[in-house]
Amino acid sequence: MKNNLELMDLSGRTALVTGGAGHIGQAFCETLAEAGANIAVLDIDQERVTEVSKDIAARYKVKTMGLTVDLAKQESVVAAPQQVADQLGSLDILINCAGFVGTSDLPGWGCEFEGQSVDTWRLVTEVNLTAPFALIQAATELLRKSGHGSIINIASIYAVAGPDMSLYDETKMGNDAAYAASKGGLVQMTRWLSTVLAPEIRVNAISPGGIFRNQDPKFVERYKQRTPLKRMGTEEDMKGALLFLSSDLSSYITGQNILVDGGWTTW
Ligand SMILES: NC(=O)c1ccc[n+]([C@@H]2O[C@H](COP(=O)([O-])OP(=O)(O)OC[C@H]3O[C@@H](n4cnc5c(N)ncnc54)[C@H](O)[C@@H]3O)[C@@H](O)[C@H]2O)c1
Repeated sequence: MKNNLELMDLSGRTALVTGGAGHIGQAFCETLAEAGANIAVLDIDQERVTEVSKDIAARYKVKTMGLTVDLAKQESVVAAPQQVADQLGSLDILINCAGFVGTSDLPGWGCEFEGQSVDTWRLVTEVNLTAPFALIQAATELLRKSGHGSIINIASIYAVAGPDMSLYDETKMGNDAAYAASKGGLVQMTRWLSTVLAPEIRVNAISPGGIFRNQDPKFVERYKQRTPLKRMGTEEDMKGALLFLSSDLSSYITGQNILVDGGWTTW
């Protein structure tokens, strides 16, 4: 029987992390590299992609590459898995971590329901749900060959629970129907794929709770009070579930959604 250190060892495997230059994505790249995996960092901004992939290579002595891809554009999305296998030798782990990050000047985003627009709904769905579908489809053959194929989709507490809008009172923050619907779809796509891609590929999801990023103090205080563990999450809180689901520590687990939310969805 293997011990836990052997089970979590990812040496010789390659992981593709979308949104890899973002807050949680970067923590995921570090986690996987620390366990020995080579890392492909995919994100929309070339400068941040290059910076993160160079930093991971220098700190963890693994092979890395950067892919500058807009996940709203299908052609570059579907080319990514083969590019990774060509440059790093294989594709074993796919983490769909990119998430739509609207800006405050985008019409129909971050506002009350009546103002949320169909155009923005489409854009959010494209990045949060359609891109993972297309990327997984393009990666399937490579992941099947791996012998350890693992897909992890990063969803959200809003995939499984409705928002408590009173958390946002008197703040400039919002909570969009498109975000919740796309993340809910991602969790159900996880279950669907887990049976369809078995037994060669495992497919699971992680649903983070709210991560502390200096949000409006009124929101932070209410959020903490509503959370059984009485704090917001951190990027570090997400690492354990990611390593568990990526590695052979979870080799008999597929189709699951681990809520890493301090108990937020338990009430
Ligand atoms: N921060 C939270 O509180 C929280 C809570 C629950 C779930 N999540 C989810 O976790 C994941 C990571 O979020 P984060 O908090 O690290 O946010 P983040 O903004 O730091 O990271 C998201 C990354 O996705 C990338 N991205 C967005 N649109 C893209 C596109 N079209 N093409 C390529 N890349 C694109 C961004 O450039 C960014 O680097 C997201 O899926 C998010 O929905 C976050």
